[in-house]
Amino acid sequence: MAVRHFLTLNDMTPDELNQLLAHASSLKQEWRAGKLRDSLKNRVLAMIFEKSSTRTRVSFEAGMAQLGGSAMFLSPRDTQLGRGEPIEDSAIVISSMVDAVMIRTFAHNKVTSFADASKAPVINALTDDFHPCQLLADMQTYREHRGSIQGATVTWVGDGNNMCNSYINAAMQFDFNLRIACPAGYEPAKALLDKAGNRVTVIADPDEAARGANLLVTDVWASMGQEEEQQTRESDFKDYQINPKLMQLADKDALFMHCLPAHRGEEISADMLEHSSSVVWDEAENRLHAQKALLEFLILGQLD
Ligand code: CP
Ligand code: NVA
Repeated sequence: MAVRHFLTLNDMTPDELNQLLAHASSLKQEWRAGKLRDSLKNRVLAMIFEKSSTRTRVSFEAGMAQLGGSAMFLSPRDTQLGRGEPIEDSAIVISSMVDAVMIRTFAHNKVTSFADASKAPVINALTDDFHPCQLLADMQTYREHRGSIQGATVTWVGDGNNMCNSYINAAMQFDFNLRIACPAGYEPAKALLDKAGNRVTVIADPDEAARGANLLVTDVWASMGQEEEQQTRESDFKDYQINPKLMQLADKDALFMHCLPAHRGEEISADMLEHSSSVVWDEAENRLHAQKALLEFLILGQLD
């Protein structure tokens, strides 16, 4: 059977995604009850990080250890990847020694090239274009707090970035409506918007986009690799902040999410993480549980 990768949410079927989320919640209960699990005993995950990370690194490394396996952190600074060894050669070699590979990098085609040459499953742990692992955690969190997201309205406020692109994929896979409130010039790629059809709408005015929504989500104004644009973006995005006033326009039971790290006073007001609608800490913790389920799916082919 061909090896399965997880480079975007489209690499799994909607049924598989829903089963994976249910499994993630049961792994969470098991873990909280102190039940030991060694489904990935003796298995090894290689983790290639070309960008910084707190949540992704800790969740993958802890997740492998909790399932009886281990994880290996590889930085381009200390491996031949940083000295120009072709990505395909690296993929052949690394995947001949480990059970799965996780990559966080810049250009999305780096993970697709690696995956094409890899004998082991490859997981996209964030590229400039997509962050599918975060969406697993976000969808698990919504499900745990509010049940199925099918038919709900989600409002994205801010940059049409990797997280926004993954929300577009999520709208298609989980069948919800997505409104994207972003300043002109920061919209997601037209091809992706066209693919999503009328499930996804771009609305310049954040108030209009937030009205009646079931979930409000945002992310930093300048992503990793865009540090030099910080000042320009601060002025371009100044009207695109999630704060209690914007939350009031949403449905009374609306949730607030942010993948973190957050910049208080920029894309969110200082009080937003502790707001009554906020589920950001559950969302962050669910990275662990969702990815444990993902690792079992990719390495063992199991969803329960
Ligand atoms: N949300 C997220 O991916 O966080 P890190 O950059 O800390 O991994
Ligand atoms: N859009 C952000 C997400 C960080 C988890 C970035 O790429 O830096």
